[in-house]
Amino acid sequence: MMPMEIAPKIYDVGVTDWTVRDFHGYKTERGASYNSYLIVDEKICLIDTVKACYADELLEKISRVVDPAKIDYVVVNHVEPDHAGALPAVLKAAPNAKFVITMQGKNEALVHYGEGFDFMVVKEGDKISLGSRELAFVPMPMLHWPDNMVTYCPQDGILFSNDAFGQHYANSKRFDDEVDEYVLFYEAKKYFANILWPYARLIGGALKKAAALDVKMIAPAHGIIWRSMVDKILERYAVWGAGMQDGSLVIAYDTMWGSTETLARAMVEGAAAAGVHTKLLRMDRTPCSTVAVDLFEASGLLVGSPTLNSGMMQTIGGMLVYLKGLQPKGKKAAAFGTFGWAGGAQKDMEAMLTAAGCDLQQGFTCKWRASADDVAAARQFAYDFAKSL
Ligand code: FEO
Repeated sequence: MMPMEIAPKIYDVGVTDWTVRDFHGYKTERGASYNSYLIVDEKICLIDTVKACYADELLEKISRVVDPAKIDYVVVNHVEPDHAGALPAVLKAAPNAKFVITMQGKNEALVHYGEGFDFMVVKEGDKISLGSRELAFVPMPMLHWPDNMVTYCPQDGILFSNDAFGQHYANSKRFDDEVDEYVLFYEAKKYFANILWPYARLIGGALKKAAALDVKMIAPAHGIIWRSMVDKILERYAVWGAGMQDGSLVIAYDTMWGSTETLARAMVEGAAAAGVHTKLLRMDRTPCSTVAVDLFEASGLLVGSPTLNSGMMQTIGGMLVYLKGLQPKGKKAAAFGTFGWAGGAQKDMEAMLTAAGCDLQQGFTCKWRASADDVAAARQFAYDFAKSL
């Protein structure tokens, strides 16, 4: 796409990755974008870059606006390769640029991208003047790497927020009021659940810093730019950061010969009879990142697997490893499934749920195939579990 002027003399020169479907395990069904912003003032400043494989496209877009050799500053809000992978190419094209970065970011960038950068290390409250406007830097460590910062332009009221407020959502439109609002907020929530959830406790402090600024536009490094729904996305982040639960239940399972599936379906009936909204996800056909977003605001989790070779099925193991990383603390959880002789899946699932920070409850098992009595008991088990949420 052509460079888009998002505000006077501020251009989005980033790249849309229409076909990416896997972002280190996060399934990006709607693609992604790596947003980079070019400010043309008395000084020329580039804010964030793109993945290394898209460096040429970034530089070509910049060239349509200014000669890249004239770039004075490159702000490196975050060193992760989706935003900083093109730094070596940008250094070659803009050899006189200063690279504005946190101290932690500098240390990381030297390892990832090598020597040769003229780094300008900044800390909270530091500013640079571009001429008619200035940029202020606000470190946001652990949202979601130690190096993260955001950049604020008071004259335009734009917060260049990097990963925060982003979404993996490829779209030819750039602004919140131009796209489907439901999809936009779903993708923003999915992004929060899969990227920021482990650090959600830090969101409140970050929002306090944002509240001190007059933010008219939030320009993230992924997805759609917020201009009409700034207050709404800030309010959603406050809710998501506080870990609010909606009382719903997620049942995630896999099955060998159908018996654990029979239990899972009975459990949906039991939970529904208790009046609890329930989602059933079969893990040989559901991405872990979908479980994350569905579980994010839910109150309960039931995980089901038959015993296979003394353990759980690998689809369930993979999902629980993924959830352990996200640390869904405060969710009530239990394991269920079938086994043939010695079992093993149940204790392994329970150990993983505990390691994931869940509030582990009594589980449910049955031997070999689920009988009619087992199905009735599974229904009652889920009814009682759902009532406790
Ligand atoms: Fe979008 Fe943490 O990189």
